[in-house]
Amino acid sequence: MLVVEGLVKRFGGFTAVNNVSFKVDQGEILGLIGPNGSGKSTIFNMLSGTFPPSAGSITFEGHEIAGLAPHRIINRGIGRTFQIPRPFRRLTIFENVELAGFYGQGGNRGSHSRAKADEAAEKALAMVGLPTDRQAPVDGLGAAGLKKLELAKALATGPKLLLADESLGGLDEHEMDQAADMLRKIRDELGITIIWVEHIMGVLMRVVDRVMVLDHGEKISEGLPSAVSSDPKVIEVYLGTDADATQAAAAEQRR
Ligand SMILES: Nc1ncnc2c1ncn2[C@@H]1O[C@H](COP(=O)(O)OP(=O)(O)O)[C@@H](O)[C@H]1O
Ligand SMILES: [Mg+2]
Repeated sequence: MLVVEGLVKRFGGFTAVNNVSFKVDQGEILGLIGPNGSGKSTIFNMLSGTFPPSAGSITFEGHEIAGLAPHRIINRGIGRTFQIPRPFRRLTIFENVELAGFYGQGGNRGSHSRAKADEAAEKALAMVGLPTDRQAPVDGLGAAGLKKLELAKALATGPKLLLADESLGGLDEHEMDQAADMLRKIRDELGITIIWVEHIMGVLMRVVDRVMVLDHGEKISEGLPSAVSSDPKVIEVYLGTDADATQAAAAEQRR
């Protein structure tokens, strides 16, 4: 479904993504993990058209899409969530998702259907478990609710491939499990293929079919979750961060 070859992104003299290649099969959930700053969001930004790659190709359903504008990529069927939710706070929950439903229709000015946008919004909200009533405000939503809203907006654009960026940040353990189950449900019930980016490894490994690991912009490992989590290169990269986290927690307790 998606074939990425030799993807590179440079910011000035800094190479954020260095010659990364991978494939995603129809119906699969691919996990993309790596420490902070390893290039995960940058890959998503290139896949979704936020900015063009410095080099490499991105083929989606047989067509080259590298460098296309975001709205063109959405209309080809690639939807995304953002790591940091930024909803329109003056609009209701429903209106935020309805807007995404309009956006996902593509076409020319005047050709959009409100009925279709509303239907897409209702389905998406029901899928993620947010209220479908038209008045519910965005303000009442906590971290988990805002993540659900991000997901509903992406779903309302009608994606075949969903790019989910760090859906777990700021969630407690129970909410993380729920978020993971929801991505599974979206794949199982809607048949949407998913690439899920996360720097927290645990919950993701339970849900994904396959996982790819980035470090300093390069792919260092790829395969089944069981194989990748015992790969010495992956352990080395993650050990540093885990040790830091353990020390930080211990220091917190002593205070
Ligand atoms: N727009 C940008 N301009 C300059 N540097 C960037 C930009 N976006 C990301 N970077 C840098 O690229 C690297 C990878 O970032 P990112 O893809 O956001 O990492 P991750 O999502 O894995 O935490 C980081 O060093 C980051 O500072
Ligand atoms: Mg990121």
